[in-house]
Amino acid sequence: TVLIIDFGGQYNQLIARRVREAKVYCEIVPYKKAMNKIKEVKPEGIIFTGGPSSVNDPGAPDIEAEIFDLGIPILGICYGAQLTAKVLGGSVTKPEKREYGKTEINYAGGKLFKDVDKSNICWMSHTDQIDKLPEGFTITAATHDCPVAAMENVDKKLYALQFHPEVEHTVQGYKIIRNFLFEVCALSGDFTSDSFIDDKVRLIRQQVGDKKTLCALSGGVDSSVAAVLVHKAIGDNLTCIFVDHGLLRKNEGDDVERIFRDEFSMNLIRVNAQERFLSKLAGVTDPERKRKIIGEEFIRVFEEESKKLGDVEFLVQGTIYPDVIESGTDEAAVIKSHHNVGGLPEDMKLSLVEPLRELFKDEVRNVGLELGIPEYLIFRHPFPGPGLGIRVLGEVTEEKCDILREADAIYREELEKAGLGRKIWQAFATLPDVKTVGVMGDERTYSYMVGLRAITSTDGMTGEFYPIPYEVLGTISTRIVNEVKGVNRVVYDVTGKPPATIEWE
Ligand code: XMP
Repeated sequence: TVLIIDFGGQYNQLIARRVREAKVYCEIVPYKKAMNKIKEVKPEGIIFTGGPSSVNDPGAPDIEAEIFDLGIPILGICYGAQLTAKVLGGSVTKPEKREYGKTEINYAGGKLFKDVDKSNICWMSHTDQIDKLPEGFTITAATHDCPVAAMENVDKKLYALQFHPEVEHTVQGYKIIRNFLFEVCALSGDFTSDSFIDDKVRLIRQQVGDKKTLCALSGGVDSSVAAVLVHKAIGDNLTCIFVDHGLLRKNEGDDVERIFRDEFSMNLIRVNAQERFLSKLAGVTDPERKRKIIGEEFIRVFEEESKKLGDVEFLVQGTIYPDVIESGTDEAAVIKSHHNVGGLPEDMKLSLVEPLRELFKDEVRNVGLELGIPEYLIFRHPFPGPGLGIRVLGEVTEEKCDILREADAIYREELEKAGLGRKIWQAFATLPDVKTVGVMGDERTYSYMVGLRAITSTDGMTGEFYPIPYEVLGTISTRIVNEVKGVNRVVYDVTGKPPATIEWE
């Protein structure tokens, strides 16, 4: 294990990503909890992140000096490098010129820079820099404006970098991180989906024993992988509740039933609550009201079903690592408890089982594939909890949902055929509450318009519209208008996020 000590840097998740890509298990820990965590997990290596403060500010994030005497290799990055210098008796100053962006650097060699070109480009982003080295350290890299771009004390296995090896602009930065993991810490890089599954199955059995466990299955990637993993550990003691609110995409409900009940032989309760949701939504047009109604009704249905099961003690959640860590040095803001399935009831007093808490999305996908979950489910685009309820704009009716389901299925089918499915983060059709005039044959039509959305993104926070080739758009438009009754026009959304959001409501 490698512990990444968080001083509030903006690239902390990237550092964790790089370490995981090297197949080394790591966790991010707030700096105030560092010593306790180190004693608990006895890591083979420690990385200090960057951070927004100056080590010379009163009250700046600090670290206990004893951490440097544990004999565990430490790699300090940016703020982490400066802190290493300061705590060990060196000094840090604010030079006249701050260094920012791609910068030429010269490396002196040594274990950390093994097989790295002597002269190269690194990514700098700092105001302060190391001025005087602590005793026992030597300089191992320099740039034009930064004489101590790297320093090390080989005997004590302490390394410090002013630049950011985790950022892709640092050429061979990944190699430097791997050198730290493999050459300095002597780690083996054997953290795989296989070993993860075996370990988790054992831990879940320990945690849950033979107690009844519940899972709200949505058919999304995270809850599906979590459910199958827990099922592998405790079998029939797991019951999955799948609330079909009638706002799912075409065939989605049946797919979930087939995969989990038929293929994985899991206890699955499908609650057909379509009518309940539609009647609650009747006459409602305000998007926020719709979201609230769907969320609340979901909880009600889930509670009713779980009561029927009797004494359940555990609840499985598909929380993943980006949901868990909110980087920041303010202790209160460090961890947010994130509920994946539209906010489940808090007063149910169930203990949580969150087997994917430490994984990134692509690792979750690997585990899912390893568990035998079909690819089309594993690589599905994200789908919001309120489903078609926020893609049918304005009042939601069964008729509109049916029209949208058909149009959306054609759209996504054609994207797959064109090989675009995995290039796009999220693609879906919407049904604005708009009718327009058309002509089909010799007849005037007055029918619905369908909107197409395709977004590239890494996390859904920001995104660009994806430029689907015109021929593909043409095919999609023709098929939708020809095959879906009630639609006579198709438009394509060419707005990014910001300024628009991904969903239309
Ligand atoms: P927006 O529309 O806010 O969406 O740009 C960003 C991402 O979040 C998804 N989304 C939701 N997911 N429950 C969810 O689980 C929701 O209520 C919800 N609303 C939006 C959206 O599909 C996109 O991926």
